[in-house]
Amino acid sequence: MKIVNKIYLSNGVHILLIVLIGIFALHNLNTILTKFRFIVIAEGLNTAFLEMRLAEKNYFLSGDDEALVSIKIRIDQTTETLRQVQQPIILAVGNDKYWKLRYYLDEYAQLVDAIDRAHIRDPGAQKELRQVGQNLKTFSEDITDLESEQIGAIIVHSKNILLYSFWAVVLFALIFSNVIVRNIGNSLSKVVGLTRSISQGNFHTIEAKPSGDEMGAVFSAVNTMAEELQKREKEIVQSKKLASIGVLVAGVAHELNNPLNNISMIAQTYAEVYDSLSREDRISFMERVDEETERLRVIINNLLDYAKPKEQHLSRMAANPVIQKTLALVQNMLDISNIKIKLGLARDLPDIYIDVHQIQQILVNMATNAIQAMDKGGVLSIDTRFVPEEDTVEIVISDNGKGIAPEFIDHIFDPFFTTKEESGTGLGLWVSYGIIKNHQGNIRVKSEVGVGTTFIISLPTCNKLGIA
Ligand SMILES: Nc1ncnc2c1ncn2[C@@H]1O[C@H](COP(=O)(O)OP(=O)(O)OP(=O)(O)O)[C@@H](O)[C@H]1O
Ligand SMILES: [Mg+2]
Repeated sequence: MKIVNKIYLSNGVHILLIVLIGIFALHNLNTILTKFRFIVIAEGLNTAFLEMRLAEKNYFLSGDDEALVSIKIRIDQTTETLRQVQQPIILAVGNDKYWKLRYYLDEYAQLVDAIDRAHIRDPGAQKELRQVGQNLKTFSEDITDLESEQIGAIIVHSKNILLYSFWAVVLFALIFSNVIVRNIGNSLSKVVGLTRSISQGNFHTIEAKPSGDEMGAVFSAVNTMAEELQKREKEIVQSKKLASIGVLVAGVAHELNNPLNNISMIAQTYAEVYDSLSREDRISFMERVDEETERLRVIINNLLDYAKPKEQHLSRMAANPVIQKTLALVQNMLDISNIKIKLGLARDLPDIYIDVHQIQQILVNMATNAIQAMDKGGVLSIDTRFVPEEDTVEIVISDNGKGIAPEFIDHIFDPFFTTKEESGTGLGLWVSYGIIKNHQGNIRVKSEVGVGTTFIISLPTCNKLGIA
């Protein structure tokens, strides 16, 4: 679900909860109000009933006929009042209780009428009237008390419900905002991690379930960007490789000359001495041609193999043979530039997990840089060693060329940084850095102007990577 929709949903639930609480509170207030109205009316009724009871006493004890008239007037007034406020009373105490009250009042009125008509004053009638009057008064007072109690109960109940719903709303808001914040936070930290790793040259896409929310859109945009960058990097790596082939070709062309010259010489000699040759001699001549052709084929294959664009293909390898194979490629470049090679390859190195062609590409870049730094000749040293503390294999490439100025050292791995003006693109070390990072390795440099430069490439062993 989109974050916007989640927020709308949360607000919707909040508003619904608040409306429900409002309706509940309003309903309870109305009930309390109705019951209050009844209590006000009931207080009036109770006073009227009390006055009737007093008049009753006057009639029987003092022989006051006027008292009976006053009772009748009160009964009429009360009946009229009860009729007028029938609705609010029914609302407050219910139908049954209202009609029961009316019934008691009618019973009392009928008795008063009978006594009035017959002018009775005997104790039997007095007792009966007292009894009915007492019933009426007690019933009225009881329902008044009951309603007062109910008002108290409703107020306590409402208070509790309001308190609980307040905490429910607060809790819901806290949980929901926490979920959203965490949701956004997690996604953002993934994006931050990804952009950081992209800036370091690792173009891995985020492995997350594609969610339909805004973060999903950000992820897919960042992933598309990572894929694009990966594609561009591959293109640059390949173009850089093609450029380095240009440099290699100069050396290789030189190397092709030797076997070609040999073949040419063998052919000329063969033609001159053909008649004096035995069958074995002729076969021996042709074998030498075949050997020279084989040399040519190896050189050309090496170059073609290096130039071919390839998908990254990691495999378990020993570091030393890869270095030797690369040296075969650059040997002529070194010879032309009058550079000696000094190898210090450690024995029994643990295997590393690499793409051979990419590592070869780095070594060609490094050798080319070293050659360019030693324009008056020099020594290129290549050493390998195992670093047990880190479980890595290190390839150390040193030259005694002109070195790198301290102010440049932090920039040599930046793309397009070059001090070679027209002749350099400044991509060699940047590409090398990217490849090494893709191999989960590291590259360091030490350099002193006028003394030389050392690059140390460290690559994790298969063991470290958990590769069987
Ligand atoms: N062995 C070295 N000795 C001295 N300086 C070096 C060495 N290796 C690299 N540098 C410096 O680092 C810079 C960047 O090297 P990088 O290989 O990235 O580009 P480049 O050699 O200038 O151009 P290219 O893209 O053709 O390789 C070089 O221009 C050079 O100044
Ligand atoms: Mg270079």
